[in-house]
Amino acid sequence: MADSQALLKARYGIEQPGTKVPDAIAPLLDRRVTRRYTEQDVPDSLLDALLAAAQSAPAKSDLQQFSVVVMRDKPRIKQIADWIGTMDWIATAPVFLVWCGDMRRGQRLCAMHDMPHANNNMDTFLNTAVDCSLAMAQFMAAADAVGLGTCPISYVRSHIERVSPLLGLPNGVYPVAGLSVGWPVFRRPVSMRLPPTVVVHRERYDDSAMETEVAAYDQRRAARDPIAAGSLKNNDVYPPRDGVGWSENVARQLSVPERFGFGAYLKTKGFDLA
Ligand SMILES: Cc1cc2nc3c(=O)[nH]c(=O)nc-3n(C[C@H](O)[C@H](O)[C@H](O)COP(=O)(O)O)c2cc1C
Repeated sequence: MADSQALLKARYGIEQPGTKVPDAIAPLLDRRVTRRYTEQDVPDSLLDALLAAAQSAPAKSDLQQFSVVVMRDKPRIKQIADWIGTMDWIATAPVFLVWCGDMRRGQRLCAMHDMPHANNNMDTFLNTAVDCSLAMAQFMAAADAVGLGTCPISYVRSHIERVSPLLGLPNGVYPVAGLSVGWPVFRRPVSMRLPPTVVVHRERYDDSAMETEVAAYDQRRAARDPIAAGSLKNNDVYPPRDGVGWSENVARQLSVPERFGFGAYLKTKGFDLA
């Protein structure tokens, strides 16, 4: 029987009396990203099973609007790691996946049947991103279940003008995230999450207690895993200092525009985003 309170304390920093974690979902509560991989390969027979698990995720209207590019060629993976520049461990992964929203397939299906594709809009952008994210999440859960480690990489979007041609992404196809996959060198500690009182709303949205709850969360996180001044977000904009908590670090990140060219990129790929 899973030790519910140990799992919940690791995830939230506080116990959740009354919550019972069934054995079947205990591994989901215990998950964490992996950013170092051994040299051991991931056989295609296993990778293909994990990809089948990904394709088993639900798909909006059964439209199946995602694609994934499997990269195993070390120099090509390293090329992406080099462009990113700050995540050299990506190049140590035997497999790098690029998960893509895919409107193109639907456009081609319409053309095959002599009909217009009348949905190159914001809703399709969202649907393709959601299909893709659900598939990637299911892949990660499957990988965890067999002892593999993964780390999503949004930074492929920071170099989209290079990554896109490297992968030959045509119009209608855009990267949602990369995913490095390999056998973990070690397991990182569980990353503490906001308490359910902040995230889970009952019947109606209510964030009236957020500031108090977040202040307590900042303290719990700092006690377990303080943020080193050198690894704060946007240290070039805000002076680094000790004692910055999670919420201030989030504000440091969100106060500076990130990938503000992404919308323009999507428009060049055929999304009108209307
Ligand atoms: C969409 C998405 C993109 C991410 N991009 C990156 C990334 O570019 N680099 C990285 O090191 N981690 C990335 N991560 C991993 C998060 O930093 C990580 O999930 C978070 O710090 C919480 O840690 P945990 O997954 O171990 O709970 C990403 C996660 C998600 C869901």
